[in-house]
Amino acid sequence: MTAVLRAEGLSKRFGGLKANDNVSLSLEKGQILGLIGPNGAGKSTCFAMLAGSIPPTSGRVFLGEQQITGLPAFRVARAGVVRTHQIVRPFANLTVIENCTVAAAQCSGRDDAGSRELAREMLRFVGLEKRRNGYPAGLTLAQRKRLEMARALSCAPKALLLDEVIAGVNPVEARDMVALIRRIRDEQGISILMTEHVMAAVMSLCEHVVVLDAGKLIAAGAPKEVVQNAAVIEAYLGKKHA
Ligand SMILES: Nc1ncnc2c1ncn2[C@@H]1O[C@H](COP(=O)(O)OP(=O)(O)OP(=O)(O)O)[C@@H](O)[C@H]1O
Ligand SMILES: [Mg+2]
Repeated sequence: MTAVLRAEGLSKRFGGLKANDNVSLSLEKGQILGLIGPNGAGKSTCFAMLAGSIPPTSGRVFLGEQQITGLPAFRVARAGVVRTHQIVRPFANLTVIENCTVAAAQCSGRDDAGSRELAREMLRFVGLEKRRNGYPAGLTLAQRKRLEMARALSCAPKALLLDEVIAGVNPVEARDMVALIRRIRDEQGISILMTEHVMAAVMSLCEHVVVLDAGKLIAAGAPKEVVQNAAVIEAYLGKKHA
């Protein structure tokens, strides 16, 4: 298999805190890879380094053969790595479709008309086409998460990093979101790295997961095996449960 996206020994220090400590992982073509771990483990920090929103203290990021370490986010996005944000903040003064068109215009290499067409196509794909001319404030949380996914898809990524797009929505919406994530891989051929606290979703979507705790990778493997790993149970629940 070919790695679409690869992290090699990524570390990030915030003052005295090692938010990521020598993290290596590899997202294969067509894979849905899970990055899990308790609150504060360093998952979003890892995503931020992969997507160019913060530079790593050390380590390297590769998109295919191309080293993209330390490039600014817009260049990383153009190269093909795009993340969604855990806390969704669309441009409130732009309509739903304008939010996506801006992303398409910045990253996809299409002209204005092409960008708008791609944006509309992605809104249709996530089920928000009818909402396209409204404003983000009129959307539910689940719809705003879909908008965030449509915005990311409008960049035409090779690797999509989904940061907790399911957590916080109701069970019916969560089930639909799982189906949507699977369709992104199956129908758009995009490789996906996802963080998620909703374990049922991880179990259903990911053939492989890596586990972070306090900035370090502590386990990797099939989700069913990993959740039985003593170190993983201890990371989530504390020592007495392990
Ligand atoms: N910009 C920052 N400055 C200082 N510390 C930070 C910064 N960003 C994150 N941290 C710290 O780094 C650690 C890892 O945070 P991160 O957000 O990556 O965790 P996470 O695994 O995504 O957690 P959650 O599951 O709650 O989203 C935490 O202790 C957090 O407080
Ligand atoms: Mg996070």
